[in-house]
Amino acid sequence: MSRDPLNVKMSGTEFPLTLGRDASGTVMECGLSVRYFKPGDQVWAAIPPWKQGTFAEFVVASVNEVSLKPKSLSHTEAASLPYAILTAWAALVNSCGLSKEKCPGKRVLIIGSSGGVGTAAIQLLKAWGAHVTAVCSGNAFTLMKDLGADDMIDYTAARLEEQLRTRELFDTILDNIGGTHEELALQFLKPWSGASYVTLVTPFLYNNDQLGIADGMMRTGVTLASKVMKHYYKGIHYRWGFFAPNGPSLDEIGELVDAGKIRPVIENVVPFTDVPQAFKKLEAGHARGKTVIQVVDPKK
Ligand SMILES: NC(=O)c1ccc[n+]([C@@H]2O[C@H](COP(=O)([O-])OP(=O)(O)OC[C@H]3O[C@@H](n4cnc5c(N)ncnc54)[C@H](OP(=O)(O)O)[C@@H]3O)[C@@H](O)[C@H]2O)c1
Repeated sequence: MSRDPLNVKMSGTEFPLTLGRDASGTVMECGLSVRYFKPGDQVWAAIPPWKQGTFAEFVVASVNEVSLKPKSLSHTEAASLPYAILTAWAALVNSCGLSKEKCPGKRVLIIGSSGGVGTAAIQLLKAWGAHVTAVCSGNAFTLMKDLGADDMIDYTAARLEEQLRTRELFDTILDNIGGTHEELALQFLKPWSGASYVTLVTPFLYNNDQLGIADGMMRTGVTLASKVMKHYYKGIHYRWGFFAPNGPSLDEIGELVDAGKIRPVIENVVPFTDVPQAFKKLEAGHARGKTVIQVVDPKK
């Protein structure tokens, strides 16, 4: 049964814009038709980009976006996971067709494995039994090993292409970096065996900003279709991945968290007043997992 019988859509077009996609907290009130949750429930969620965000004391969410928080995590820990892991889920599950049943025996390459999405993706894939090769800076190797990566490549040590030539081909590649990595990575998939490449770095927003929604969508559609066809004839599935809110998937992820198979990777916890500095740090790159904004002091 759908959790959201009225399929409630909330508009997020009003200004000022509130940033932030992750939330973890207590349900304060529920709509009349909500049966699945009740006030007082401890929940986590990732809110879609077309709504107001979560850097706020109160957040409005639809039932389908929310899940009961894993009991083993504090709210601060829980708030670090939903957006990153649901983005990994959308790319790996929705775009590449991976699942708990299909992962065992699959070789997966993650390019950009040390940031928010990468650290979540490694853990999800390992929990499902895939063989994971992580591409990151050498100084993230300890973290990668700790998260379960089977093989690691330091992209700063030698040309990535040369290092990939020494490995077996892959069944799935998740590209969190894009740019020139796209053409490079596509050579390292097993052709004519259902292998998929998925990138999270797409021209979707750039095209809409430059050309407006109608022309931008048209340009995006043509670009995607031509790439899909070009690689289809080489025996490889080419895909774009986009974050999608997904309460039921968070339910499954929560079980893996409580079973000790997925853990939060938190680089920093900063108070709400330090959001501008936190963004400056993120813009500089080199993230290791996630930065959490603490909107409400848990001790108060
Ligand atoms: N399509 C969507 O819906 C969607 C949703 C979320 C995120 N994204 C995109 O997905 C990408 C990843 O997101 P994220 O949150 O994981 O980013 P992040 O937290 O900033 O992590 C990026 C990681 O990549 C590493 N890195 C940089 N250059 C690299 C390279 N050449 N090879 C390997 N690793 C490299 C960085 O560390 P070092 O620089 O120290 O190596 C950092 O750890 C971003 O481009 C983001 O915009 C898309």
